[in-house]
Amino acid sequence: MLERLENYRKLFESHLDEWFAKNDYSIEPVAQALKYGIKNGGKRIRPTLCYMAAEFCGKSADYVSNLAIGMEMIHSYSLIHDDLPCMDDDDLRRGKPTVHKIFGDGIAVLAGDALLNMAFEVFLSDKNFDENSLKAYRYIAENSGANGMIGGQSIDLSNVSGANLDLEEIKRLNRLKTSCLLKSALVGSCIKCGGNESEIRNFENFAQKLGEIFQIVDDILDKTSNEEILGKQVMQDESKGKTTFVDAMGIDGARDYIAAIEKSAIADISKFGDRARPLIELCRYLTMRIY
Ligand code: IPE
Ligand code: IPE
Ligand code: MG
Ligand code: MG
Ligand code: MG
Repeated sequence: MLERLENYRKLFESHLDEWFAKNDYSIEPVAQALKYGIKNGGKRIRPTLCYMAAEFCGKSADYVSNLAIGMEMIHSYSLIHDDLPCMDDDDLRRGKPTVHKIFGDGIAVLAGDALLNMAFEVFLSDKNFDENSLKAYRYIAENSGANGMIGGQSIDLSNVSGANLDLEEIKRLNRLKTSCLLKSALVGSCIKCGGNESEIRNFENFAQKLGEIFQIVDDILDKTSNEEILGKQVMQDESKGKTTFVDAMGIDGARDYIAAIEKSAIADISKFGDRARPLIELCRYLTMRIY
């Protein structure tokens, strides 16, 4: 799995470099800040989901390159804003100082805004643009916006000491702030590539669960891992008074929940046989990060 992920990551870096080689962004200081915010590593899981969905549908990874670039731009903008002092107030991201630490808060806000605009510029520059692409980009816009990721981030802002969100509220928060972007990548790509109704529905269920796993693993690692491995500060949730799934269920309870939804996520797509194998392996790999 690791080698496969590495190959997708490299492919993504080449797609991204190609975009920046063809499109000149040079008005400073925002240009430097936005490039710093997206060309700074990261696991590139969302582009990987785009590529895997394309291959599942019998298309090439290149066919969804614009969708993959735009998705990672939306994700990277969400991280730049997530790290701001008015949100999670973090100093380290992907092993380097956060965008606002280098460029200041105002430029970090603008770099995030610019990446979001750029994502839609990339989508609208898709040379394979067709009816399905229109549906896919609309799906992504909805899931990244006020009814999706942004909605989740807004709930997270009220998740401070004393708020004590209950388990159902935490699940809803995780589905919005994290699953919605994974859904955008996986389902968006499946829609663009002409996936049928059953494929789209099952991918939605799978991505929702994968996002929950991904966020709970992130919350566990915040308490159990270290800065070198994660490339970001640890013990941040507790220090900000955030209640995560791990606080509500304990680490063992969280691990049990992850194991249960991992099974259910895999069941959502295993009916597709060998075609679903890369996604199943990815799901297992992301779950394994806590062990
Ligand atoms: C971090 O996402 C934000 C969460 C949803 C937990 P990633 O763990 O995918 O971050 P990068 O892109 O690899 O830095
Ligand atoms: C971030 O969740 C989710 C989004 C940016 C949408 P976190 O706040 O837990 O992510 P990290 O831990 O800062 O990467
Ligand atoms: Mg956050
Ligand atoms: Mg954060
Ligand atoms: Mg976190």
